[in-house]
Amino acid sequence: MRIVITGGCGFLGRRLAIRLLQEGSALGAIDDLVLFDHAAPALPLPEDRRLAVVTGDIADRAAVARVIAPGTDAVYHLAAVVSAEAETDTDLGYRVNIDGTRAVLDACRALGSRPRVVFTSSLAVYGGDLPPAAGDLTPLTPQNSYGVTKAIGELLVTDYSRKGFIDGRALRLPTVVVRPGRPNRAATTFASSIIREPLCGQDAVCPVSPDMVMAVASPRAVVNGLMHALGIPGEAFGWSRALQLPGFSVSVGEMAEAVRRAGGAAAFARIKWQPDPLVAAIVGGVPRVLKAPRAEALGFTCDSGIDEVVQNFIEDDLPLQRQLAG
Ligand SMILES: NC(=O)c1ccc[n+]([C@@H]2O[C@H](COP(=O)([O-])OP(=O)(O)OC[C@H]3O[C@@H](n4cnc5c(N)ncnc54)[C@H](O)[C@@H]3O)[C@@H](O)[C@H]2O)c1
Repeated sequence: MRIVITGGCGFLGRRLAIRLLQEGSALGAIDDLVLFDHAAPALPLPEDRRLAVVTGDIADRAAVARVIAPGTDAVYHLAAVVSAEAETDTDLGYRVNIDGTRAVLDACRALGSRPRVVFTSSLAVYGGDLPPAAGDLTPLTPQNSYGVTKAIGELLVTDYSRKGFIDGRALRLPTVVVRPGRPNRAATTFASSIIREPLCGQDAVCPVSPDMVMAVASPRAVVNGLMHALGIPGEAFGWSRALQLPGFSVSVGEMAEAVRRAGGAAAFARIKWQPDPLVAAIVGGVPRVLKAPRAEALGFTCDSGIDEVVQNFIEDDLPLQRQLAG
């Protein structure tokens, strides 16, 4: 089995790669796993003869076609410009997130073998006048460029699948916390920072108020979902290849309290509350509550709550994070 992960050196791509190497994929054992990315991995990758890293730009059609070569069984398309960056640099967001996605889908189509493709979408596809809980039946009314590019990606995955070019699935991920390493350029990056930095003895700025509610999931739950998604028969998705994954709702104040429970009063005091209206507008504009009955019926699950997420971070990432901080 040959699998390509675009954006494979990023946060979720790296974790997915490690899981695939450890456990194999839902479609079979891994012979070759290729991580395609324009950046080097920020965190270490395992030494494994099945693993290769290829550097290139996702919008470079020739480079993408070379990496999604004959013999590729499945592609995880994770490479993307994230929310705040796509909003400040419109052309970059369109090039990477739209042209890059088309390059990936066309390379998959050219294989002629209808490979499975897993695309990562976002809650940013929703926006505007939202219902109390958002999900598969909520209209796609994105309010920023990132959300527009993700909505286009979802629709393309469904259309390429309908035409028999690929066997695709597009997963709408909740905001993933806790992200290890350094803050990225997503507007939601603070949700990880306010847990990660205080538990490492560092200050973190929270740009939204404690009563802001977010729909989140842990990296463990999301990578479980990415692993699970590959094995589901395409027909099981029914009328759309886009699927809202489950997540749980938590206020930012409850996240801070979980930091206090795990790290004590000193850790809690490391969170500095400095409102930023731009971030608050982006974060406040996406759904705070999710409903995901289709995903749950297909076997996707989520975490029990914020304390479990913080414990996962302590077990999975805190030692490496402390090294980075030190
Ligand atoms: N982490 C979250 O909370 C979250 C939530 C919803 C959706 N997503 C989506 O999941 C995917 C993975 O997210 P992540 O958190 O791992 O992000 P990330 O930024 O850590 O990873 C994205 C990777 O894409 C790569 N990339 C960017 N531009 C590229 C280009 N031009 N060519 C090749 N590679 C390029 C980056 O170098 C990076 O390694 C993304 O598609 C993101 O939009 C993430």
